[in-house]
Amino acid sequence: MTSAEARPIPERNAFDPTRDGGADGLVGRRVRNFGATSVLFYKQPIEMVRGEGAWMYAADGRRYLDVYNNVPSVGHCHPKVVAAIASQLARLNIHSRYLSEAVESYVERLTATLPAAITNLVMVCTGSEANDLAMRVAAHASGGRGFVVTATAYHGNTTSVNDISPQALIRGGPAAHVRAVPPPGPEFYGPDVAAGFSRAVAEAFADLAAKGFPAAGFIVDTIFSSDGIYADPVGSLQPAVAAARAAGALFIADEVQPGFGRTGDAMWGFARHGAEPDIVTMGKPMGNGFPMAGMATRPAHLAAFAEHEGYFNTFGANPVAAAAGLAVLDVIAEEGLQQNAARVGGHLLERLRDLQTRRPQISAVRGAGLFIGVELSRDGDIADPDPDTAIAAINALRERGILIGAAGRLGNTLKIRPPLCLSIEQADMVVDALTDVLAA
Ligand SMILES: Cc1ncc(COP(=O)(O)O)c(C=O)c1O
Repeated sequence: MTSAEARPIPERNAFDPTRDGGADGLVGRRVRNFGATSVLFYKQPIEMVRGEGAWMYAADGRRYLDVYNNVPSVGHCHPKVVAAIASQLARLNIHSRYLSEAVESYVERLTATLPAAITNLVMVCTGSEANDLAMRVAAHASGGRGFVVTATAYHGNTTSVNDISPQALIRGGPAAHVRAVPPPGPEFYGPDVAAGFSRAVAEAFADLAAKGFPAAGFIVDTIFSSDGIYADPVGSLQPAVAAARAAGALFIADEVQPGFGRTGDAMWGFARHGAEPDIVTMGKPMGNGFPMAGMATRPAHLAAFAEHEGYFNTFGANPVAAAAGLAVLDVIAEEGLQQNAARVGGHLLERLRDLQTRRPQISAVRGAGLFIGVELSRDGDIADPDPDTAIAAINALRERGILIGAAGRLGNTLKIRPPLCLSIEQADMVVDALTDVLAA
């Protein structure tokens, strides 16, 4: 058994049947049915039965404010998205080897939000598939095999993507063709984060090349979610991308977390940094819960891949996914959700930074829009992380009907990542509850 500190992040807040009891009822069935890979949140797992907006309702009738889930990004069970899915599913669902107006419209609408050079979108079902394909495209387009990632990155669960996801490793280090660098935070690079980060990326690619792995790709989640959420300074990603390109790598922007307006100031995380990607991967919020994801790139890169390999994905570009995706884009625009993320997220950041001045446990508040990390450390010393208080706070907030998560290498950063429809009043409920919990 490895130490608790080595467990992947979602497991830090996990129900533990040997510690927490509960071999009966639904919990017992879950543990028996799923076996060793079962992960349930909270010391007392919750059976959820319904969702609406930012609220989730449990089987016992209790309601919870969802400040964690970024998949139902436009709100749980948004009626417009549900209606679009139901209507298309009642007419026809089929794979992409037949023509579909909805699918072509979706690809055109989506790629119109990306840099002009990126005009191809391969629709897949999960973020893992999107990143797996991105790695293959990057390898063929660059001729290399080496990847640079961040130290606690998570990019998905296929065999190759697992290689570039240090966060998921319980034992052992990264694969030989992968180098991990710390995320862009001043605690790792000093005050000039952009320069330090780009130097680390350049050195990592040089080391890979020296070991026989020429550069293929530099892949980052552009808000560094599992690393602990590093959003600022805006623009700090650019020099690292330039260093990666100079080494011969393609830049893969993994937008599974920050994409679709979450950061408030842009539709995409790379865009707020002004960094131009070669490949963009996306997923989770793309269908607001309908399983869909995508890998977008320049035609020349996809052509380099297609010279070597074919690609078909049975469920990848079906018209129901397209209907869901179109409805999500409509709702983001009609309800001004990116602007709401900026407004409510700005309010949250301000209140949390104020709380930081009064609560010694808070060593940093980082974020953009509705993606915020509150780092907890002993005596506010960022060099002395406090994952125990973070887990206690997460469970105490759950008791108060507020659901948040953990991020960062040791899971000591509270992760605030609600649906984009969160209101100011709901944001205040979160800060008020956190204030009480940290006082206790
Ligand atoms: C940044 C990032 N990329 C990729 C993935 C993988 O997506 P999926 O679980 O849909 O395969 C995740 C999932 O958490 C993620 O956070």
